Amino acid sequence: MKDKKMNILAIESSCDETSVAVVKDGRKVLSNVIASSADLQSQFGGVVPEIAAREHVKVIAAVIEQALEEAHCKPETDIDAFAVTAGPGLAGALLVGVSAAKALAFAYKKPLYPVHHLAGHICANFLSDAEFDVPFTGLIVSGGHSHLVTMDQNYDFQILGRTLDDACGEAFDKIARALGKPYPGGPQIDKLAKTGDNTRYAFPTAHLKNNLDFSFSGLKTAALTYINKAKQTAEREGCEFTDILNINDFAASFQTAIVQTLVKHSKLAILQTGAKIFGLAGGVAANNELRQALADMCKKLNVHFTCPDKILCTDNGAMIGASAYYLSISGGKPADSNLNAYPSWSLDQWKKLPQVKVHKKL
Ligand code: KG4
Ligand code: ZN
Repeated sequence: MKDKKMNILAIESSCDETSVAVVKDGRKVLSNVIASSADLQSQFGGVVPEIAAREHVKVIAAVIEQALEEAHCKPETDIDAFAVTAGPGLAGALLVGVSAAKALAFAYKKPLYPVHHLAGHICANFLSDAEFDVPFTGLIVSGGHSHLVTMDQNYDFQILGRTLDDACGEAFDKIARALGKPYPGGPQIDKLAKTGDNTRYAFPTAHLKNNLDFSFSGLKTAALTYINKAKQTAEREGCEFTDILNINDFAASFQTAIVQTLVKHSKLAILQTGAKIFGLAGGVAANNELRQALADMCKKLNVHFTCPDKILCTDNGAMIGASAYYLSISGGKPADSNLNAYPSWSLDQWKKLPQVKVHKKL
C-alpha cells in the first residue's frame, strides 16, 4: 500500500515546540510551521512543563491555520486524515495537541492517527531521502531518549539498545548549562566545538559488554567535575573559570566522546542486524560531528546513510505526518474520541495505544 495517496495534517506538542504540518503521501512536506517557546524556557535553564503547555494553548490555533494556508489546503476537501503525537512527552503539553487534533477530526469527520514521538523522529528520514525505506536500522537521539532500533518490512520496531540513565541530548543540555550557556545546550556545544581541539580533555566512554545499551552519566559526571574544579580554581585565583578551562577545547572533547560512543554502538547494531540502510534522527541528529562521523562509518561498511534535514531533526509536525502515513499503511488504527496522552509509551508497541485507567464514571 506504499502508493496510497494521502494528505495528513499533523500536530506535535510533546515538549516546547508547537508544530503543525501538512505531509503528502508520507514523503513530501507541503508545510511545516514551528512555534517554539525555547527562548522563554531558556530563562529557566530548561523546559518548565506548565509553561510549555500554556504556550501551546496560546499558539496552536494560529499554527494550524498557518500550516493549512502555507500548504494551500482546505481541511474539508484537501486533508484526508489528522495525526497527533500522543506520547511519550510532557503530559500537559501532549494534551494540548491531542485535544486540538480530536476537535479537528470530530469537526471534519476524518480519521485521527495517534503517533509515537520517536516513530515520528525516525520517520523524518522518509521526508529527506527518497531512497530511505524499510527495513532499516536507526539511531534516535533526542533530549529525552537515546534508542538504537530496527524497523522491519511491516513497519514494526524492535529496540536494540537504549540509554540506561541520561539521554544524549540531556547530557549536552546539562553540560552547556554548567558552562553558562542557554537552553537548548546541544547547538551551543556544537558551535563551541567547531573551533576546539577535541584531544585536549580526556573523557571516559562507557561500553556495556554484549549489549547495545548506552550510559552517559559517567561522561556527564566527569565533565561536571572538570567544570567545578575550574570554577574553584578561578575563585581562588580571582579570575573567570573560562581562563582555566578552554571551553572550545572542552566542548570539542566532550562532543567527540559522545559521538564516538554513538558511532561505536551504531556500527555494532549494523553488524548485528545486517542492515543496508541506516537512519539517524532526533534533536541531537542536528549535530555536525555526529552526522559526519556516522556518514563516514556507514560509507566504510557500504551502508546507505540518511539523516533528516536539520529542521526535521528537532521536534516538528512533518515527522509526525510522515509517521502517521506509515502507521496507516501498515495496519495502525485511527484513534477514537477516548484518545489520551501517554507520557510513557514503548516504541516497540507503536501500533497499539497503552491502556489507561478511567476513574470517572459516566
Ligand atoms: O528531539 P528534540 O527536539 O526534543 C526531544 O524530543 O527531546 O531534541 C532536543 C535535544 C536537546 O537536548 C538539544 O540540546 C539537542 O536536541 N540538540 C543538539 C543539537 N541541536 C539540538 N544536540 C547536539 N548538537 C546539536 N546541534
Ligand atoms: Zn523529540
